[in-house]
Amino acid sequence: MPCGCSSTTTTLILTAGEPAPESVTPAERTAKPRTVTAPDSREGGRWEGAMDKAIEAAAAVRHLTSPNPWVGCVVIAPDGSAFTGATSPPGGPHAERHALTSAGAAAQGATLITTLEPCDHRGRTGPCTDAIIEAGIRRAVIAVLDPDPAVSGAGVARLQSEGVEVQVGVRQAEVERQLLAYLHHRRTGRPWMVAKLAASIDGRTAAPDGTSQWITSLEARTDAHRLRAFSDAVIVGAGTVRADDPSLTVRHWTPPGGRVWSDGREPNGVVQPRRVVVGSAARGARIHPCLQWEGPLDDLVVRLGADGATQALIEGGPAAAGAFVRAGLVDSFVVYLAPALFGGDDGAPILSGPGAQSIHDIVRGSITAVERLGPDVRIDVAVTDAA
Ligand SMILES: NC(=O)c1ccc[n+]([C@@H]2O[C@H](COP(=O)([O-])OP(=O)(O)OC[C@H]3O[C@@H](n4cnc5c(N)ncnc54)[C@H](OP(=O)(O)O)[C@@H]3O)[C@@H](O)[C@H]2O)c1
Repeated sequence: MPCGCSSTTTTLILTAGEPAPESVTPAERTAKPRTVTAPDSREGGRWEGAMDKAIEAAAAVRHLTSPNPWVGCVVIAPDGSAFTGATSPPGGPHAERHALTSAGAAAQGATLITTLEPCDHRGRTGPCTDAIIEAGIRRAVIAVLDPDPAVSGAGVARLQSEGVEVQVGVRQAEVERQLLAYLHHRRTGRPWMVAKLAASIDGRTAAPDGTSQWITSLEARTDAHRLRAFSDAVIVGAGTVRADDPSLTVRHWTPPGGRVWSDGREPNGVVQPRRVVVGSAARGARIHPCLQWEGPLDDLVVRLGADGATQALIEGGPAAAGAFVRAGLVDSFVVYLAPALFGGDDGAPILSGPGAQSIHDIVRGSITAVERLGPDVRIDVAVTDAA
């Protein structure tokens, strides 16, 4: 099983001269006003190639580290050799420690490039700042400051106080996108709430006779399982449990290095999300063990956040998803649309219950991604401002 505790050595070709991002992140605004050096266009551009490698390393452990952030790190030694690390599952070393261990003596006088501000506090592992200082790192290049109250600028301040040169903001926008759920959780205490909707292009999810499998393709359903693997909790309504008896486990998506089973068993290397039913599930339903929630939906979101969920996925059905939308509890939608039409208004809708009564009340968002998945299309729509 892949543990995510990756540390590798690569030779990196660095490109210079690309303009660096100049905007100030909300994380920077909330951090203590310390002297954080924004990269000038030449210096920032110098490290963008290495930051891209760090982003790539972080992407490979996206499904393993929550509630901790999925972070990637690259150490560039004075001779140009590069050492990469990514965060281990909770309790294991952070990305910086993996990269430094891999670099060994080559870290002396090196530059450390990391997607998130290093921690300066003792959790289950020691402070990464200690490891960076002890290794003799000369310069730290950071994409995004960590809004976690236990970090929040303290990592940068500690490094600077020990004479490490610090730059913040390289590939900031990309990393804010990659760490969206984590940053939202640390800023608000709530998980980033994603509603998954799968429908025909006329917005229907089932025929009048109840048949619905499958409107979307295997490619879209595999992608939806990846979305589950990236979520700490998966939520469905009691109606879906009664109708479909779903197991809601990650099965069709296998992480890099994970083992694929031909009989549909859960793949190795996946942390299965917590399963939640709004309402109750009959004894013997496949969704057990699960959290059965009878209270207000907002309290459920607060509860999941307090339990450490950085992202929760609402998987329907139409009544439960509609209730979350009406309560204003959805931060973004992932919509899978199949090139098919039911052609009338007697099929099941994508959301049910009373909707906007006026055009002034419709929920508006912005498209953040569009992707072809086999014959289908995936559209990501953000409702909540990521900042
Ligand atoms: N195409 C898709 O993407 C997709 C995804 C999921 C499901 N589905 C289909 O959707 C159908 C089921 O959908 P559905 O709309 O009948 O049921 P649902 O949305 O799955 O569940 C609704 C039930 O959830 C419980 N509930 C608890 N709190 C609620 C709240 N605040 N708001 C709304 N419901 C709450 C209620 O259960 P009680 O009645 O027990 O009180 C309610 O009847 C199935 O046929 C399934 O196949 C399609």
